[in-house]
Amino acid sequence: METTLTLSSRVLKTENVNWRDFKFIQQDSFKDLDPDAAHRLKASILANNFTQPFYVWEVPENGTIFCLDGKHRTLMLEQLIKEGHTVPYLLPATFIHCENKKEAAKLVTIYSSIYARVSQKGLFDFMKEYELDFTELKDQMDLPEFDMLEMMEMLNPTDAAATQAAEARSSLQEKFIIPPFSIFDTRQGYWMDRKRKWIAMGLESEDGRPEELFMAKSGQSSGIYNLRNRMREATGQDPSWDEILKEAKKRGLHVYTGTSIFDPVLTEVVYSWFNIPGGVILDPFAGGSVRGLVASELGFNYIGIDIRPEQVEANIQQAMLLGAKQAEWITGDSSQLNELLPESFRADLIFTCPPYADLEVYSDLEGDLSTMEYDEFLKTYQQIIKQSCGRLKDDRFACFVVGDIRDESGIYRNFVSQTIEAFLESGMLLYNEIILINVAGSLPVRVGRQMANSRKVGKMHQNVLVFYKGDSKKIKENFPEIEVKEMSENA
Ligand SMILES: C[S@@+](CC[C@H](N)C(=O)[O-])C[C@H]1O[C@@H](n2cnc3c(N)ncnc32)[C@H](O)[C@@H]1O
Repeated sequence: METTLTLSSRVLKTENVNWRDFKFIQQDSFKDLDPDAAHRLKASILANNFTQPFYVWEVPENGTIFCLDGKHRTLMLEQLIKEGHTVPYLLPATFIHCENKKEAAKLVTIYSSIYARVSQKGLFDFMKEYELDFTELKDQMDLPEFDMLEMMEMLNPTDAAATQAAEARSSLQEKFIIPPFSIFDTRQGYWMDRKRKWIAMGLESEDGRPEELFMAKSGQSSGIYNLRNRMREATGQDPSWDEILKEAKKRGLHVYTGTSIFDPVLTEVVYSWFNIPGGVILDPFAGGSVRGLVASELGFNYIGIDIRPEQVEANIQQAMLLGAKQAEWITGDSSQLNELLPESFRADLIFTCPPYADLEVYSDLEGDLSTMEYDEFLKTYQQIIKQSCGRLKDDRFACFVVGDIRDESGIYRNFVSQTIEAFLESGMLLYNEIILINVAGSLPVRVGRQMANSRKVGKMHQNVLVFYKGDSKKIKENFPEIEVKEMSENA
């Protein structure tokens, strides 16, 4: 509810004063009187004489009278005198009570003349001089064709820049889902809102994973995996997840128990920006169902390959449940991709998130990249990239979401650069590199110890690498305007 005020009159009196003694708070440049308006003012004075008093403020201490409204009228009167007209020196003025000059200055800004117009520059200089608050006064002023944002920026650069940036961002969202910058910030409200809407459509990614994999999700630190490897070496047997948990607790290692799914907003953005309408997506390391389900929902055809039959089965079930007809999965080892796909198969987009070496171990199947020594992993990974790129049509994109990993001594392996290298060797061009900022999750719990002990900063980003095959000049002709899917909360 608006607060109620007790209003009072600040009009003191109206009496005749010598207008030639007026002083002015504002500079001449404050208001413009264009020749047309000057002509109208003159014509009106000559025809109607004086029908309106001046507004003035008298300084009580010294009797100086500041004219708050009527400057151009006094200028015009001087002109009329020069032209030979007879003008009385005493004319009516209405005296307004003001506490001080700043308060009087405020009234100067809000009295609007029907002839003279405030100039943007004039008002700016005036506001600066009297330290007036534009945000407070702008609603009371008759500001003609002012660029309000520009004015606010002139007077208060940081606020206006922020408003402008917010407005620009929301129009970028309307056009592109998220602002097309080299940073994807999954912590932002617009990202989280959209993610919630996708999840509300029934996305579930992890069905296919056995309980221990379900728990050992990507939030897990490599310390947990090192621990598991050491336990395995010590006993010659795979420890159960419960045993790992117990051991981890004893050693004070943080265990991530939350679950996550592959980001549907990231998926939607990549498909909408880098696929042609209705194009075919190839995913050589499918994992969960999200990338297939989002593809189908957006009208793309998707084919995902994963080495784990239980994951593929779960994805197919999930797609049936949601009626996602355009998503398909094949069980197989992508290093045999050429044998798995019909000879005629060609994709319009490659999109995947490969195993980050052995950061998460997915199975003990032969051929599962996550079980390999790093050298072998890299060789097989390069072969899979080469075969996938071979199945991509010309003038199309490929996108890999990757994150660097550390070796046993804690040194980064440079996996991101090695992925880029593998693509360049497969004849693709590096086209965009985007940093995907992840939510901090359990990082704040883990980062203190890791920083204190070994100066490792907490990694909360991944890299979204976008490659292109063919002639980049053809992008405009092949990739039409981006269509943004309307999504409701209860989709
Ligand atoms: C990083 S995961 C992708 C999962 C994704 N992050 C998600 O949650 O949806 C990589 C996937 O590659 C699969 N994979 C590992 N080696 C493979 C191979 N040689 N051929 C096909 N899939 C393989 C694993 O089973 C795992 O599901």
